[in-house]
Amino acid sequence: MAGHPESSASFSPAKPLRGSTKVPADKSVSHRAAMVAALCHGDVVIRNFLNADDTNATLAAMESCGVAVERHGGSLFTVHGVGLRGLRPPGGTIDIGNSGTSIRLLPGIFAGQPGAFTLDGDESIRRRPMDRVVAPLSEMGVGIEAREGRFAPLTVRGGVVRAIDYDMPVASAQVKSAVLLAGLFADGPTSVTEPALCRDHTERMLAGAGADVTRSGMKTTIRPVERLELEEVRVPGDLSSAAFLVVAATIIEGSSLRIEEVGVNPTRTGLLDIMSAMGADIRVENEREQSGEPVGDLVIRSAQLRATSVGGDISGRAIDELPLVALLAAFAQGETVVGGADELRVKESDRIAGLVSSMAAIGVEIEAREDGFAVSGGGGVRGGVFESHGDHRMAMLGAIAGLASREGVVVRDFDCVSVSFPDFTNRVSRLVGGGDVCWYWL
Ligand code: S3P
Repeated sequence: MAGHPESSASFSPAKPLRGSTKVPADKSVSHRAAMVAALCHGDVVIRNFLNADDTNATLAAMESCGVAVERHGGSLFTVHGVGLRGLRPPGGTIDIGNSGTSIRLLPGIFAGQPGAFTLDGDESIRRRPMDRVVAPLSEMGVGIEAREGRFAPLTVRGGVVRAIDYDMPVASAQVKSAVLLAGLFADGPTSVTEPALCRDHTERMLAGAGADVTRSGMKTTIRPVERLELEEVRVPGDLSSAAFLVVAATIIEGSSLRIEEVGVNPTRTGLLDIMSAMGADIRVENEREQSGEPVGDLVIRSAQLRATSVGGDISGRAIDELPLVALLAAFAQGETVVGGADELRVKESDRIAGLVSSMAAIGVEIEAREDGFAVSGGGGVRGGVFESHGDHRMAMLGAIAGLASREGVVVRDFDCVSVSFPDFTNRVSRLVGGGDVCWYWL
């Protein structure tokens, strides 16, 4: 599990958020940039790479497989790609820490490399289901072994890869990406059909690097290639990190905030749609394309919210942000119900169980449903002690809840925020004018 249970931070009721900010680079796009760059023929410059635990784990994994990475300072890197089949097994196990995206995507890449690659991670990773990638990769003829057939550590033996037409049983971008990456090495066109819209960063980046990727309805097809080439990737800001600030600015009265250069890929913007339906005041300005990804500035003003009902496709497009809907719902008149979100149970923690107990502990009327949760809104947040269970997104949710609360919130096990948003507290504290967000390690 990421973080240390004894590290806690306290967040007091805050003044409105004002001004303009950026957020850390997109985690999903950064992972893919490191992986695709490693497979490229020649050098790839990555600008605005996310310098956080998860993405550094992917970069380190590539380095341990023989890829040279030059660090120019800050978030600027040059990756000396070794070509499609140029990775070499490191001496020992590759430790990917808390990163689900690393452990589920890398087997797709290792499928085409000579030798055996073993991947492992922390306690939370060891509890998460890996059979979802083991099954399709086995079907492709890849030698892949998992503990009890379904848990980390995983060992992948690359070699001949068979093309498949895969009907994906779970809506997972990680699974889709693993199969498409393995498809780069296959003996024909490989297709994945997704049951609901999942983020498509892998497809966009591979297409940018010269792969033949096409989409028809919910089916994506990739054809094997001889080589990939990519001069440069500029990673946009992460909407999933921006989401915490977007929600804070919406529920803390008097806020007016601009967040610059955020990825607004439509496979990721479910939260913005949910919030619009709740009456939030959010505009996307200056929309443009950058390294194959839609990017824009978010302009948010606080607003009175009404309850909503969330389900189906939109849950998938907001999967990492759904816990934030519980906080929005606490400030909205009426009952908000979130469904179609059973995947929340197998994230960095069981985000339905954790959300319900932690939100209830700070005075929110919330109950668990099998595939989501329901909140009786209007009462806001009283305050209290919020357990993050070592999950970075839950820790930041607790922090924002504290800023919007009446009595303040202590978030237990807070330092796991370094998984995706290392300078979260400084950034938030600047936006609320300094001193008001009182945080400290207990
Ligand atoms: C991710 C996909 C999603 C998401 C995760 C990042 C990715 O997971 O929750 O934070 O980068 O592909 P699933 O593929 O399990 O839905």
